[in-house]
Amino acid sequence: MLRIGIVAGALLLAASNCAVAETSVERGAYLVNTIMACGNCHSPRDADGRLIPDKAFSGGLTFNTPPFVATAPNITQDFETGIGSWTDAEIKRALVEGLRPDHGHLAGVPLAAIMPANFYKALLPEDLDAVVAYLRSVKAIRNQVPDPAYKAPVRRDAYPDADAGFSKADLAGPVKRGAYLVTIGHCMECHSAWSRGVSDFRGGLGGGGRLFPPRDGSPEGTPPTIVPNITAHPTAGIGGWTDAEIIRAVTHGVARDGRPLKPPMAYDYYASLKNSDLADIVAYLRTVPALP
Ligand code: HEC
Ligand code: HEC
Repeated sequence: MLRIGIVAGALLLAASNCAVAETSVERGAYLVNTIMACGNCHSPRDADGRLIPDKAFSGGLTFNTPPFVATAPNITQDFETGIGSWTDAEIKRALVEGLRPDHGHLAGVPLAAIMPANFYKALLPEDLDAVVAYLRSVKAIRNQVPDPAYKAPVRRDAYPDADAGFSKADLAGPVKRGAYLVTIGHCMECHSAWSRGVSDFRGGLGGGGRLFPPRDGSPEGTPPTIVPNITAHPTAGIGGWTDAEIIRAVTHGVARDGRPLKPPMAYDYYASLKNSDLADIVAYLRTVPALP
């Protein structure tokens, strides 16, 4: 018995040492495949809406909106159809400024605003490095997505927390750590008040109301999904929910009353968030000013 206890203790210690020694690629894999959910847009799905694991990141959803039609491109390491020929600096520029490289296909053309660079600009330098390090490890898949068409100039709405930025020192407290995760997870892009294509991240932060059309393959007549209010309002928002109820909604797509929640929120990605990160996200959401 005692020996089993020691072995278990040694394993625990090894596991915690592993966490300390997380490599940049591991950190990037965690960010990309949980909170940043890149594959929710960039990975293809089958007819039932399930991700196709061996095709991850090879090109995904097509967004047909008034200002543009754009397909989330292949971001695997394929040289011709992916981003294998891009330098690290070029990948970083696409992520945090939404700009393509000055060479190759569509040279210099800004990326449509659906690519959330206005949120990703908040990434700490080491996290940006980690995302790029992980993308370099993604196996090349050949797949050319259709070219985008732009019907209006690209405009990204400024997100105050991303513009203010975060420092390592800021991330000492749970609320700020949660704000960082909610920023790089672009949660408020969907969950804030939205009108005529413009998000209100100041007066309408977290207030909900934005409409999403049903996904391809939904039965005819499916109504659009209304994004809920996630401010601290006790009845209109999630102020009256327990921490466990909020975490269940985020990670398992289950509403407070047990109803399944609809896409496009990336529940299947958030399911792998660490408990400590989920606790920080909840701590931040509790501070979002209540809106009716
Ligand atoms: C909400 C959907 C969405 C999410 C989330 C998203 N992207 Fe994108 N991304 C797009 C779309 C759409 C484009 C193409 C826009 C265009 O063609 O104008 C794009 C473009 C890109 C490009 C430029 C590729 C090229 O060939 O031009 C890169 C690189 C990229 N995304 C990487 C990422 C990474 C890494 C993440 C996660 C950290 C991510 N994206 C998250 C939708 C998304
Ligand atoms: C791409 C858009 C999108 C993003 C990004 C997004 N959500 Fe959601 N969220 C939704 C939709 C849509 C629903 C559920 C709609 C339904 O079925 O009623 C939802 C539901 C929720 C709920 C349940 C609220 C309720 O009243 O049922 C919570 C809590 C929530 N989201 C928190 C978050 C957090 C935290 C993040 C970031 C980590 C996030 N969301 C990112 C679209 C989004």
